[in-house]
Amino acid sequence: MRSAEIRKRWLGFFEERGHTVVPSASLIADDPTLLLVPAGMVPFKPYFLGQEQPSFRRATSIQKCVRTPDIDEVGKTTRHATFFQMCGNFSFGDYFKKEAITSAWELLTAPQDAGGYGMDPERLWVTVFHEDSEAEAIWRDVVGVRPERIQRLGMGPNFWSMDVPGPCGPASEICYDRGPEYGPEGGPAVNEERYIELWNLVFMQYERGEGTGKEDFEILGELPAKNIDTGLGLERLAMILQGVNNIFEIDTSRAVIDRATELTGVAYGTDPKSDVSLRIVSDHMRASVMLVGDGVTPGNEGRGYVLRRILRRAIRNMRLLGSTGPVAKSLIDTVLDVMGEQYPELLEDRARIEIVILAEEEAFLRTLRTGTAMLDEAVAETRRGGSSVLGGSQAFMLHDTYGFPIDLTLEMAAEQGLRVDEAGFRQLMKQQRDRAKADARAKKSGHADLSAYREVADRAGAVEFTGYELMEDEASVVGLLVGGVPSPAASEGDDVEIVLSRTPFYAEGGGQLADHGRIRTQAGATVTVHDVQQPVPGVLVHSGTVLVGEVTLGSTALATVDVERRRAVSRAHSATHLTHQALRVALGPSAAQAGSENSPGRFRFDFASPSAVPHSVLADVEQEINEVLSRELEVTAAVMTMDEARKQGAVAMFGEKYGDQVRVVTIGDYSKELCGGTHVRNTAQLGLVKLMSESSIGAGVRRVEALVGVDAYRFLAREHTLVRQLTDLVKGKPEELPEKIAGMITRIRDAEKEIDRFRLDNLMQSSPSLAGSAEQVGGVALVAAKVGDGIAMDDLRRLARDVCGRLPSPEAVVALFSVKDDRPLCVVAVNEKAQAGGLKAGELIRTGMAVLGGRGGGKDSVAQGAGTDAAAVDRAIAAVRGAVAAHGS
Ligand code: ALA
Repeated sequence: MRSAEIRKRWLGFFEERGHTVVPSASLIADDPTLLLVPAGMVPFKPYFLGQEQPSFRRATSIQKCVRTPDIDEVGKTTRHATFFQMCGNFSFGDYFKKEAITSAWELLTAPQDAGGYGMDPERLWVTVFHEDSEAEAIWRDVVGVRPERIQRLGMGPNFWSMDVPGPCGPASEICYDRGPEYGPEGGPAVNEERYIELWNLVFMQYERGEGTGKEDFEILGELPAKNIDTGLGLERLAMILQGVNNIFEIDTSRAVIDRATELTGVAYGTDPKSDVSLRIVSDHMRASVMLVGDGVTPGNEGRGYVLRRILRRAIRNMRLLGSTGPVAKSLIDTVLDVMGEQYPELLEDRARIEIVILAEEEAFLRTLRTGTAMLDEAVAETRRGGSSVLGGSQAFMLHDTYGFPIDLTLEMAAEQGLRVDEAGFRQLMKQQRDRAKADARAKKSGHADLSAYREVADRAGAVEFTGYELMEDEASVVGLLVGGVPSPAASEGDDVEIVLSRTPFYAEGGGQLADHGRIRTQAGATVTVHDVQQPVPGVLVHSGTVLVGEVTLGSTALATVDVERRRAVSRAHSATHLTHQALRVALGPSAAQAGSENSPGRFRFDFASPSAVPHSVLADVEQEINEVLSRELEVTAAVMTMDEARKQGAVAMFGEKYGDQVRVVTIGDYSKELCGGTHVRNTAQLGLVKLMSESSIGAGVRRVEALVGVDAYRFLAREHTLVRQLTDLVKGKPEELPEKIAGMITRIRDAEKEIDRFRLDNLMQSSPSLAGSAEQVGGVALVAAKVGDGIAMDDLRRLARDVCGRLPSPEAVVALFSVKDDRPLCVVAVNEKAQAGGLKAGELIRTGMAVLGGRGGGKDSVAQGAGTDAAAVDRAIAAVRGAVAAHGS
């Protein structure tokens, strides 16, 4: 049965049983505790925790997931992958254990012609949490599973949480016996390869607190309701139903292996080591395409790093298989062929996905070229030091400076017979990450840990944002933190974080900066607000300082937004939408948004593009934006379902999480985007948009920066004044400026050359008289003198040689000094006879420089140096003379 059919049956089965089909959320988790979505339940977390009310009580989904803790196992075992799809059914306070168990069994074992998966019940085993007699009884008495096929297991396998605080509960797993060729008898308790886990049913009824891992944590209490969360790995089921040996050989993965074979000539199934590489390529290329599809771009932190590592491992394994040049394009094509049916949005986004991945491939191939040399050097150095362990700091340097992922360093060092001090490396990485995280945390949520905000959410519910309509609103203070700690009151001068029951303040998000403003309590306290963030979903936190009075928890307050700032930010945000659309018109839909920041009067907009955008295209884009805004288009916002938004052709920003209801911002007939930000009412309010610069901010991503409205006007007005000043100066028309100024520059250069020639001629004319001033010191003709100030080193050298050539005695030494830009310069020239007699220009210059406080060097015949003490020139002359005299005696 093909993967697409497995999906269809899954969703159909649960839809028939009253479940709402929820499309997969983005792999980018909207959850500060997670980088990427590792399980189907993530988008439903707020429902389990009772933070939000779903509009349905039963749901089913097939969620894209990425997990990397087992990345080293990928390709070696039959069942670990970084990318997989989790089929799930969910109950939010609706059905519980009995229905979850019976329907899972029904779907797995119903004959295929009756819509099920037709699995042989004799192959299925189940496990239950060792304290969960209720689940065991249902399996035994209601479903009829033989008691010896039910195993009780401990917390590790049979109590599920995300390993971080959140919903959790006992679990029951359905496992499939793949037969004696995969391992010994004894059920899943004994062997996980043979009795492979297929479907995990979690009876989600508790909330876990902090703690470590799967077993060691505190249960904070019961969830508001008893829920069901299940997860079945689509790829594992496909493996069984398609009768193949591992998840890499199923329809949607095998095609990538075959393409890798075509590219490298290495057939699958001939050598265990290259099979591992082929499987890694298959998994990692799928994962990379899916991640880029959801808006992740390669980077050195967070999810960008996950993607970089996965993608680079794929390319590296292709090289181990023998490829030498770029391979990603062809592999992407195959992934899109097999995944496009299930995720048609990937096909629409093909151009952007290619840009991002190919740019990273190119960067990595470059890295391999330079980094390999560095690694070889580090290996040689290690060996020279008599060690067989490459240092942690060297591995870190390779990573940090040359982009060498640690696994690559490990592999390549191992190929040369060395180990790597991985612990040392990890320590350095951790220090770097901690620094980055601390920075990010301090910015996003002051100093409080997130539990303080969660507590507010639990107590007071989600905060209503009223700022689309209102700039001022009355509310009560439902959360108050002073210096990051929950407090009942705050007094004058305190730095506070305030949560209001409702607020007109926009919290930073969707690229739009936070509102500023004031909060005044009824009792007369005033707080100035300089930031607003949403550290946990539904909690809008105003950060500010108490100017006067005392703020108390529970008091009534009037929240007033700084209207000027808000309007300027809104103008920037609407201008960003116009820019996005204008770029799409000019460059095609692959110029998709990769990020933005809207601040008062200015914005920046990041988008995918394989190369720099030419000036002429930018000029067209700018003209289009300004023409469109002068059409006085109305800007409106409407809330609708995601389906409806798609139907209307709304553009979504990759990687943003959208609920089932989305807000669509429409600008006349020109632009339609999913957006939660604030905007102008009419494009005429923008006045003017001026694009300032275009630059690269990473592989395949470009950034334009722009000014809007009065800020754009001020910039242009300033430029205009400058142009007028210049036209006054050069006495020409503005359009003649470039030509006139270019002409002036040429004339100035010519004149400078002329002056140089003249100066040198002049200088050289002093040569005969300098030679005439030679003194006899110890049988050597010596000229040691200061010539005029401001002579360049080159000229001084020419003069010294010329003088040296004019000296009559067989042995001649010339030491000339000049002061240029407050620094004493010196050149020493020594003729051949004097050199033969043991006088060396290099040594004499060092003598002079010791006095002048500088360094110098050169050959035996000519040497030069620059010092620091211009007042010491006379003493330096004496020192050189002394050295020559000492030589003669
Ligand atoms: N959330 C459960 C899992 O990921 C179903 O295994």
